[in-house]
Amino acid sequence: MIPTTMKAMVLTGHGGVDKLEYQEVATPQPAPGEVLVQVTATAKNNTDRKAREGLYPTKKGEMTSFQMGGKPTLLFPRIQGADIAGRVVAVGEGVDESRIGERGLLDFNIYADDRRDINLTPDYYGHGADGGFAEYVALPSDQFHPIPNPELSDAELASMGMCSYQTAYHMVTSANIRAGEYVLVTGASGGVGTALIQLCRIIGAIPYALSKQDKAEALLEMGAEAVLDRSDMGNFVERVKAATGGKPFDAVMDLVGGE
Ligand SMILES: NC(=O)c1ccc[n+]([C@@H]2O[C@H](COP(=O)([O-])OP(=O)(O)OC[C@H]3O[C@@H](n4cnc5c(N)ncnc54)[C@H](OP(=O)(O)O)[C@@H]3O)[C@@H](O)[C@H]2O)c1
Repeated sequence: MIPTTMKAMVLTGHGGVDKLEYQEVATPQPAPGEVLVQVTATAKNNTDRKAREGLYPTKKGEMTSFQMGGKPTLLFPRIQGADIAGRVVAVGEGVDESRIGERGLLDFNIYADDRRDINLTPDYYGHGADGGFAEYVALPSDQFHPIPNPELSDAELASMGMCSYQTAYHMVTSANIRAGEYVLVTGASGGVGTALIQLCRIIGAIPYALSKQDKAEALLEMGAEAVLDRSDMGNFVERVKAATGGKPFDAVMDLVGGE
């Protein structure tokens, strides 16, 4: 039995964490073509914080977040949460009931049209529509992908974050990274950085991490060939040469910017 109300962490406006309120709200109903997902795990993605703080400005000095058709798409109250793992508990009209019980992960994009091109993606769940900081969420059935893999817990699945992995995948494919190529990843310990390191290894490329020394062990375990300490950039070129045996990087995946 699905309750008519649910608990949700509701964003009430741009600002600090005090803008997030734990509230009782109506449980969404799955529309035609949608599934109702009981959320079992949601990652707190960097993008949730940035959106809350209004760090996606479209005009100088304006905290409006994305604007489609000239109007802001982050309207309040909004339930954030882009990286959603959960189980299908109900289906909308036109969706096969056999999906009920399925464990899966959301493709968080709100696509502009049938091309489903992420370059044309205007928005995402947890921003332009309600997301996973709640007990239930209604989602397009074809964007909730079944992932039965018993070796992955729901929390691990959500923390992989489709948002950061898709960003990383897009970087790797845009740069046309090939097996055997040497890739430098800055901001390596973050959401996108850890995804890049793992994706490089899957492709057969050799990822080098620019990070901090206290994170080196975890990054090496994850697949980094070597970790370069960013706290001392003085002799960076020499350290790179020493780490790669003199081979230059084929690509730099820069998640930090600046100098
Ligand atoms: N998360 C997403 O799904 C997503 C999607 C699209 C775009 N992006 C963008 O991709 C970038 C990275 O996002 P993220 O989610 O991976 O962020 P994150 O998890 O916060 O990681 C950022 C990393 O940058 C490094 N860093 C932080 N401050 C630094 C400084 N002052 N100087 C040098 N390095 C510093 C840190 O790594 P080290 O300590 O290891 O150096 C940190 O872990 C951001 O610009 C974000 O807007 C993210």
